[in-house]
Amino acid sequence: MIGQALNRVDGPLKVGGRAAYAYEHWEAGQPLYGFIAGATIGKGRITKIDIARAERSPGVRLVLTHRNAPEQNAPDFSITSQYSRAFPVLNGPEIHYYGEPVALVVAETFEQARAAARLVDVEYAAEAGHYDFAARQNNAYAPKKVNAGLPTDSAVGDFDAGFAGAAVKVDQRYSTPYYFSQAMEPHAAMAVWNGDDLTIYVTDQILAEGRTCVASTLRIDLQRVHLISPYIGGGFGSKLGLHHEAILAALAAREVKQPVKVAMTRQQIFHLVGPRPTTSQRVRLGAGKDGRLVAIGHDVTMYTNPEWEYAEQTAATTRSLYAAPNRLTRHRLTPLDRQRGEDVRAPGEAPGLLAVESAMDELAYALGIDPVELRIRNEPARDPERDVPFSDRRLVECLREGARRFGWEERPVSPASRRDGRWLVGYGMAAAIRMHFQGTAKVRVRIGRDGIAVVQSDMTDLGTGTYTILTQVAADALGLPIERVRIEIGKSDFPESSGSGGSWGAANSSIALHRACKALREKIEHSAGEPGDLEAEGEVAGMWKEPAYQAYSIHTYGAHFAEVGVDADTAEIRLRRMLGVFAVGRALNAKTTRSQLIGGMTWGVSAALHEEAVVDTRTGAFVNRDLAEYLVPVNADIPDLDAIVLDGFDDKANVLGAKGLGELGICGAGAAVANAVFNATGVRVRDFPITLDKVLPGLPLAEA
Ligand code: MOS
Repeated sequence: MIGQALNRVDGPLKVGGRAAYAYEHWEAGQPLYGFIAGATIGKGRITKIDIARAERSPGVRLVLTHRNAPEQNAPDFSITSQYSRAFPVLNGPEIHYYGEPVALVVAETFEQARAAARLVDVEYAAEAGHYDFAARQNNAYAPKKVNAGLPTDSAVGDFDAGFAGAAVKVDQRYSTPYYFSQAMEPHAAMAVWNGDDLTIYVTDQILAEGRTCVASTLRIDLQRVHLISPYIGGGFGSKLGLHHEAILAALAAREVKQPVKVAMTRQQIFHLVGPRPTTSQRVRLGAGKDGRLVAIGHDVTMYTNPEWEYAEQTAATTRSLYAAPNRLTRHRLTPLDRQRGEDVRAPGEAPGLLAVESAMDELAYALGIDPVELRIRNEPARDPERDVPFSDRRLVECLREGARRFGWEERPVSPASRRDGRWLVGYGMAAAIRMHFQGTAKVRVRIGRDGIAVVQSDMTDLGTGTYTILTQVAADALGLPIERVRIEIGKSDFPESSGSGGSWGAANSSIALHRACKALREKIEHSAGEPGDLEAEGEVAGMWKEPAYQAYSIHTYGAHFAEVGVDADTAEIRLRRMLGVFAVGRALNAKTTRSQLIGGMTWGVSAALHEEAVVDTRTGAFVNRDLAEYLVPVNADIPDLDAIVLDGFDDKANVLGAKGLGELGICGAGAAVANAVFNATGVRVRDFPITLDKVLPGLPLAEA
């Protein structure tokens, strides 16, 4: 049962329109609609706010501003996870970032609320803010830790001496822009008060953290807050935490004594939800003529909000990827007056591997060694910085299997050497690595006289397949057909998990469920056929308490291969085909696994060729704040793309042998495409995305 390509058990509900999302819980009563009015400056203060016109507008029931919004708790920055902190909204006249809410207008219809929001008259005293990352990146500081509690810096051996003495060197800078998770379902919430109890229908990946955030912001008892999020229309990190929509809906619903819905528009998402920080990265690789690395250096600078520090762990996996005796990684932060940075799919690895795996490709050409062979020559026997064994690695197998299936031996060895009509054709590859995290999770399973097993947890399914894999795990462990398993997740009142994030949800909740089922079977055996309901709980501890995390380096791996065509006259870049081969331990469901991996690979293509949120450096606003101008790949951009998973079982990771893979597909994928563009054209673009204006000037002149 585990591993089978079972169709999504929630598929019929979704395609039949019966899966209710946050904005669609009509059973909760007739709602009012809230619309956010945002600041039109990036820094300064409100000097005057006049809501008279908005209040007189048809259907308007409430206009909340900093003048009448209830007092809320300030965030406690000693709490490590930003998503558990209080998140006060409309709590003063100061403006910290462009688009910050200055009012919430609540009306009988959405259109009335939106129209009236335009009538809120605000005057500002604008201050000069810092919005330009490139201009400010020398004002960087070292954070105490980076995301996931990882060390800011690492050093092994003597990097400077090792690099200075290397026979062949690469020393390059790469940059990545601001990226946004653009889930199909926007950030939305509906709040309903029932006495002192607050229920919020949310779209939220980690309900336990969201509940803490709401209770702390509104100064109410945690037990009084009930979050409900049975279906999530994509999240990718942007819904690890709640935002203004949930807090504002709760504040407004309390005032008007009626349910209130608030949804962000697509444009508001660009200013109210955190981007992946823009980065500038310096990668230094020093090798002997035989291709063996003697020094690896990875320096990362990125922006942060001055108060809400967020440091993406961009160089963290550089610590485990290749062997070299002398090593150095560092993360630095440059404060800018913009909204807090947040996690976007594969925080760290996604931008980090764009740089490192491009640099490895540059080194391969400098040495005249096949890029696949170069990586194999630098395969470490143990984790090169922690000096512990790998739990299960198989990167070399991914490289070899990928090269064989892709036909890598057909690659054009010299850049710009192959033509197919008007197209310059190139092959590129890159390695993938992603940390495997483990968080706490509790799951309850109950079996009744009807022989139906009901599984309960506050775990979420953001489209990844949680309902389906938990069905498989329970059916397998209890020996039941899948029709006799019912999964109930997405309610904060259920046993607490770490939700969906960091690719850990599937393994966390599956292991806890597996244990719950085992305990339930023992109870069934002891009950000796007595009728009645039986229930049991299973639990998993966080990695900080798991000895395996001390004893082993636990990651997932892969290898990407891409073929591109670049128009010899216009530099238009078309992906022609792409293959990823991955080692993830045991895959819990072959179909949802493949879907996650090809989805991630598509993001990689996007990072290489499409995505970039552009800042107006006068105000801090993102100028291309919609999906017409913030480009993401469409079907026409993604041709033949496939993901293969090696059969596996990581017995060191956990009892099911399964590791997180939701984010692995994006890791390194963009670099494979970038390396293919270089192979096709001889043009190396280090400022992502690779748009045709950056390639065109370097194209070889067409023959007369
Ligand atoms: Mo992920 S960026 O931790 O949802």
